[in-house]
Formats: sequence, structure tokens, C-alpha cells
Amino acid sequence: MKVVIPAAGLGARFLPATKSMPKEMLPVLDRPIIQYVVEEAVAAGADDIMIITGRNKRAIEDQFDYHPEFGDHPALRALDVLTQQADLFFVRQRRPRGLGDAVVCAARHVGREPFGVLLGDTIHLCRVPLMRQLHDRFVELGSHSSVIAVERVSDSKVSDYGIVAGEEVRPGVIDVRSAIEKPTLAEAPSRFGITGAYWLTPTVFDCIRRTAPGRNGEIHLTDALTLLLQQEHVYAVTFEGTRYDIGDPLLWLRANIEFALRNPQLRDQVLALLRSEAA
Ligand code: G1P
Repeated sequence: MKVVIPAAGLGARFLPATKSMPKEMLPVLDRPIIQYVVEEAVAAGADDIMIITGRNKRAIEDQFDYHPEFGDHPALRALDVLTQQADLFFVRQRRPRGLGDAVVCAARHVGREPFGVLLGDTIHLCRVPLMRQLHDRFVELGSHSSVIAVERVSDSKVSDYGIVAGEEVRPGVIDVRSAIEKPTLAEAPSRFGITGAYWLTPTVFDCIRRTAPGRNGEIHLTDALTLLLQQEHVYAVTFEGTRYDIGDPLLWLRANIEFALRNPQLRDQVLALLRSEAA
């Protein structure tokens, strides 16, 4: 299974922390976000992962490199196992021109087979890895339509996400009829927001190439999906699990607190800390 991880965004919502370091390297508890994303891909069955990077993103590549100075360090064992389970490839996006443009950087590598996309700044915590859930839906739906993950978002969040609408053909499966990138509340055709996990047919590459620059002059993957759904079915599916979009400091803090509370060794101490702060 091939999975593409775009990690080329500038991280403007997280300045100054992201001025010289990639936002994907911000830690959640004990490891950088990008490591969770690679773990998620491998858990779903990915054996070929291409990370799309850019300027100032070299630390991402180093994270998955060997580390003679630390020897056999227990905290690095899981990382060693991880890098043996999948081949990692890196390609640079020449300029930050949007998510669609980043994804198309993987076109030659992916070739003519369906592939996954997981955003490098979003963790999906699911009992069954989300990419596996998407792939299973893809097979159930006939193995020729793209499947993207969505979740209901509140009115105040609609303009932060790609929003899709369509006909619910079975519980939790929407046959997508329209997709719009970061609409205003008035423009939004539904409250189903794209969470950042996609299982796509390779037709999407031609659609991206035909996509004109949209909001902020960027080539949006959501706009390419609008072209794709004129040629093929695109399904949006809801899923069981929690999505952590780690795009700004508050969301990052929430992810850290929740991950710490899930950790049996830390839970009581973190609760005590929060309670004493609240008091
Ligand atoms: C991107 C996509 C958007 C999607 C979002 C999920 O936006 O363009 O459609 O809903 O990721 O996090 P970004 O967060 O990169 O601005």
C-alpha cells in the first residue's frame, strides 16, 4: 500500500515556533506529529510512504534516519521497527502552492494505482487505523471510487476545512456531489468537514493538474476533488475515532493533554496538575 504524506505547509498559524522548524516536528507528548502519522500509515498496511517536504523541512528526514550517537536507546526502538516496515521516500515541493500541488509531487512515484494521503499535521486516533477503514470501504464500494474521511464540524469551524455534501447512500457513507474548500458558513453545503485522510484513485492527479489556483492562489486538493467527482464517484465516510488537527497552539495543547491523560503512567500526575491549576 502506498501512502503519501504532505508535510510541506508553512505552519503560519504556529509562528514563531514554526519559523525555522517544521510544524510536523512539534511533539505531542514524546514524539513528533509526523511520527504518529507514519505509524498510522504503517499500522494500516503501508509499505511505501512518500513524504512531501519543502524548505526548512530537513528535520523530518533526519527523524527517520539512523542514530549511531544514541545506540540501542529504548525510546528509539519503536522508531527503528517502524522504519524497517516501510520504505520511506522524500520529495520536495518546489514552492508552497497548496495541498493539491503537494500531492501531485508524488504522481510519478505512485503511478497508476490507488493510494492513500494522510496530512502530516493531523493525527487520527482510531482502533482500526483510519487508512485501513478507508481502504476497506473502497473495496466494499467496488474498488474504483475515491473514499475520503469526514467528520461533522461546528458552525464556527466550517471555514477551516474542506466541506463536502451529497447523498447518504448508506449509514456513514455519502456519495459526494459537491466539495468546497473553506467556505463561509453561508456557502457551506453541509457540516461534513474533510479531516485529512484520503484513499484516492490515480485519476486525481490529472484533476489536480487541471485545477486552477483557488483560495489564496493555492491549488487545493478539494478543488481537484470537485473535478474528480464529475468523472468518478467520490465517497465521504464518517469514522470511529478522534482526529487531532494540530494546526494551532490551542489544538496542539489539547492533543498533548489528551494523549497524556491516555498514558497510564502519566494520567494521575497530569490530572493532579490540572486540578491544582484549576483551583
Ligand atoms: C487542508 C485541506 C482541507 C482539510 C484540512 C484538514 O487544509 O485543504 O480541505 O479539511 O486540511 O485539516 P489546511 O488545514 O492545510 O489549511
